[in-house]
Amino acid sequence: MPAIAAENAVTVQNLLAAYEGESNAHAKYTAFAAKADEDGLHGAASLFRAAARAEQIHAGNHARAIKQLGGETQCEIHAVEVKSTLENLKAALGGETYEIETMYPGFLAEAAPRKNTAANRTFTYALEAEKTHARLYSEAIALLEAGKTDSWIGAARNFYVCPVCGYTSETPEEHDRCPVCNLLWEKFEVIR
Ligand SMILES: [Fe+2]
Ligand SMILES: [Fe+2]
Repeated sequence: MPAIAAENAVTVQNLLAAYEGESNAHAKYTAFAAKADEDGLHGAASLFRAAARAEQIHAGNHARAIKQLGGETQCEIHAVEVKSTLENLKAALGGETYEIETMYPGFLAEAAPRKNTAANRTFTYALEAEKTHARLYSEAIALLEAGKTDSWIGAARNFYVCPVCGYTSETPEEHDRCPVCNLLWEKFEVIR
């Protein structure tokens, strides 16, 4: 195991925090998906499952960057507090918003001058993918608050997740390639 270079110590600490955050988000969204299915909100359940898959991809990317910098992955998975699906959607949106506005921009600002490609790339991929989650969660919250359970939140549906960066879309083909990492759209995973 190579030692962590002193100049990368903070980057590795941040990668570990992000790894823990993404791993817990995966656990949380998986539990929220089960609750949404119970509530008959099968489309919201599909969204939670797609986002859970994306967070798993982020955790894997962070783990690779940690290893590359000589660190070791470790994290604690906390018990998930499951409430109503509306509250769960709001909790999910809160987590995404924190990552988009605070966590990843801060981690990127710290890592960028180090020119560590793996760290910069994995933080950028996660930041961009979380924006797609925040948009979809906001849409689901608005529909549920308006009582529109006959909309997409009510019936199981496909979401499309980039297996490289976690970019998540509700349309089968938005572009030829992933707008974040350039992967061919045909390689996207279909999550329902
Ligand atoms: Fe996310
Ligand atoms: Fe991608």
